[in-house]
Amino acid sequence: MLIYHYTQRRDEVKMNYLIGVDIGTSGTKTVLFDDKGNSIASHLVEYPMYQPKIGWAEQDPEDWWQATYSSIKAVVEKSGVSPSDVKGIGLSGQMHGLVLLDKDDKVLRRSIIWCDQRTTAEADQLTELIGRERLIEITGNPALTGFTAAKILWVKNNEPELFEKAEKILLPKDYVRLRLTGEFATEVSDASGMQLMDIKNRCWSDEVLDKLGIPKSKLGKMYESCEVTGGLTNEAAELTGLNPGTIVVGGAGDQAAGAVGNGIVKPGIISSTIGTSGVVFAHMENIEIDKGGRVHTLCHAIPGKWHVMGVTQGAGLSLKWFRDNFCHAEMDAADGLGVDPYYLMDQQAEKVEAGCEGLIYLPYMMGERSPILDPNAKGIFFGLSAKHTKYDMLRAVMEGVAYSLKDCYDVIKDMGIDASEVRASGGGGKSKLWRQMQADMYNCPINTINASEGPALGVALLAGVGAGIYNSVPEACEIAISVKDTTDPIAENAEIYNKYFEVYRGVYAGVKDQFKKIAKIQAE
Ligand code: XUL
Repeated sequence: MLIYHYTQRRDEVKMNYLIGVDIGTSGTKTVLFDDKGNSIASHLVEYPMYQPKIGWAEQDPEDWWQATYSSIKAVVEKSGVSPSDVKGIGLSGQMHGLVLLDKDDKVLRRSIIWCDQRTTAEADQLTELIGRERLIEITGNPALTGFTAAKILWVKNNEPELFEKAEKILLPKDYVRLRLTGEFATEVSDASGMQLMDIKNRCWSDEVLDKLGIPKSKLGKMYESCEVTGGLTNEAAELTGLNPGTIVVGGAGDQAAGAVGNGIVKPGIISSTIGTSGVVFAHMENIEIDKGGRVHTLCHAIPGKWHVMGVTQGAGLSLKWFRDNFCHAEMDAADGLGVDPYYLMDQQAEKVEAGCEGLIYLPYMMGERSPILDPNAKGIFFGLSAKHTKYDMLRAVMEGVAYSLKDCYDVIKDMGIDASEVRASGGGGKSKLWRQMQADMYNCPINTINASEGPALGVALLAGVGAGIYNSVPEACEIAISVKDTTDPIAENAEIYNKYFEVYRGVYAGVKDQFKKIAKIQAE
C-alpha cells in the first residue's frame, strides 16, 4: 500500500531519475537517484578476488557484467520507478585493471586488477623504453606496477599467444559499457590511469603506444566523462529492465567518480577516502605534476580539469583482513545484534589510547604506491609488547591506514595545493573513530556530506549532465551535495600522532631493503 502511494506521488511530479553503477573490487553497487541526488534504491552484488600467488590479484569480468545487469534490474524493481523516467546511466569502475578480448569480444584471461603487483620487471621496462622523466611528463606518473601499461607488457612478455589474440584492451567499467551498449569506448579519468595517455592533451599518446608496440586500434574511443557514449542495446535493456537506448555516459574511474560524488570539483576542497584502497584527492584547474612521482596526476571527470591523488593500496583492505582473521567473535556478535561488525570493532578500538602505546602498523599488505613506490613492501606491526592485546592491534591497523593517508596529504600540501576543507568518505569515512584519527593527524577539521554513495552518486551526476538535466558537473554537485557535519581535531591526540608519525616513516626507511630480499627469496 505504502509503496503504491510512494510510486503514485512520484508519477505525479514526473521526476527524472539517474542510475550510478560502481564496479568495485569487493562488489558492484548500483544506486538509483532522483535528480536532487537523493538515493531512492540501492543494490550490492559481491564477487571474489583471486590471488593465485602472493602479490597477484585477478577478477572475472563476467562477474562484473552479471553484477551490473542484475543490480540495475534490482534497483529498478525496488524503486518502482518507470523505466522511461530513468534518464541516464553512469559507470564508475575500479581503475587500472586489464581486460583483453579476442576478435569475437570473448574475454581472453581473468582481469589483472589494480592491486596486482606482479609487474616489477615490466615497470622497469616501461621506464627504460620511454625514460622516467619523459614518462612523467606525458602520462603524469612514473612507471607504476599497478597501472595498466605494465600489465599489458606483462601479458606481452609472459603470455605472448594471448597478447597476439587480443583485439581490444579495456578497463573494467569499459568492458561493462561494451556489454551494455555495444560501444568500444573509454573516458579520460579512467583512461589516464592506464599510463598510455598524453594527459595534457587528453588523448592517447602516440609516442607511448609506439614505444610499447600497442596499436591504437586496440584501445577504445576517448570521451570526456559526462559525454554520451551510447545507449542500451535491446539485449541489455531486457536484462536490466530499462528501455533500449537509455543513455550511458563516459562515467569515471572510481576515484574521480567518488570525488564528484563528494563535491571535489573546485580548488580548496580535498577528499580523504577509505575504501579497499585509501585516497587523498584534490581538484586542479591547471595541470601540475609532482616531479618526484610521489602522487598521481590524472584527468578529472570535469572537461578540461585535472586532479592529483595519493593512493595507499591496503586501506580498508587492512581492516577487512584483520576482521576476517581475528574478529570472528565480533562478527558473530554483530550477526546476533543485527549490526555491522565494523561498528563493534570501532567500539573496542575506541577504548585504546591514541598511539596504541607505541604499537605502529604499516598497511603495505599489497605493496605501496604513494608517496613511497614499492611493490615489494609488506604490512608490519612494529613495537609489539606483551602488554598489547588484539584490540591494540585493531586500533593500530586503523591508525596505520590514517598515517599512510597523512603521508599522501603532506605531499599534496607540499605541492602548494590548497586543502582548506577535507571531506571524509568511503566505507571508512562512516567510522567516527577513523574520521577523528584523520582530523587529529591532518590537524584540521574533517567534514562529511549529506550523501554517502560517493562514486555511484558521482557518475549518476555525470549522467545527469549528459542527459541535459544539469548544465555542468559543478552545477550538479551544487544541487546534490552539502556539508552535514564536522569532526574537529583533538590537540592532545594531534601531538601524540605527530610524534609517532615520524616513527611510522622511519620504520619503512629502516626495513625497505629487507622487503627486496624477501621478494628475491620468493622469486627463487
Ligand atoms: C586508484 C586505485 C584504486 C582502484 C580500486 O588509483 O588504484 O582506487 O581504483 O578502488
